Amino acid sequence: MKLNVLVSPSAVEELYFSNKTVVVIDVLRATTTIVTALENGAKEIIPVHSIEFAMKASSSMFGGQTLIGGERNTKKIDGFNLGNSPLEYTAENIAGKSIILFTTNGSKAIVKTKYSKETLIGSFLNIQSIAEHLVKQNEDAVEIVCSGANNLFCIEDTVCAGLIVREIQKLKPDVLLTDGARAAVDLSGLVINDIYKMLVNSDHGKLLVENGFEKDIRYCSRLNVSTIVPEYSTSAIRVR
Ligand code: MLT
Repeated sequence: MKLNVLVSPSAVEELYFSNKTVVVIDVLRATTTIVTALENGAKEIIPVHSIEFAMKASSSMFGGQTLIGGERNTKKIDGFNLGNSPLEYTAENIAGKSIILFTTNGSKAIVKTKYSKETLIGSFLNIQSIAEHLVKQNEDAVEIVCSGANNLFCIEDTVCAGLIVREIQKLKPDVLLTDGARAAVDLSGLVINDIYKMLVNSDHGKLLVENGFEKDIRYCSRLNVSTIVPEYSTSAIRVR
């Protein structure tokens, strides 16, 4: 197994992911929201690349059991049922529902990996289960894709990628790392003892606090509180 970490999906084209196993990370907040929604009983999450497509899909697909969620500049979009705070995706609100999700970076990053052999959804909440799944599959090429923000580096996504690589190394010490994966491991080691502090001091963390989402940061910082392995396949994300 050779592990690579991409700090932004903008570095590659869609076909780069073909025949590769991919993990997409958007800690603040898309992939944390996806893990939470599936953990709380959502039927599936349909990531989309534009608000317009989200509006079209919600009206024509999946019938009455469909919600539309997401954000623009961290805030809920007019006409959407939900924003992108994981705290909104309670069992009461979303159990049994299909949820169409548009976010500034995360949903687009997921859609970009559609030609992959397998795409998994990672966050701080399910690091261990993602690592265990990857070791069990033992595929040759694994790409951990950080969503970043508007094609820029986001420390939180790369730290999460580094913690996943660390967990894989514990289970499979002979795993091969690219420089990107090695850098993620080293970066995560610097902040491993205070993930919340790293998050609240990150660029996107500061924006979320400014916009009244401080509680989301505490929620997104919790390690291994979920054991699910969400997989993106045939346009939707479901629990494997
Ligand atoms: C993103 O897609 O960049 C984030 O999920 C945005 C957010 O929820 O604040």
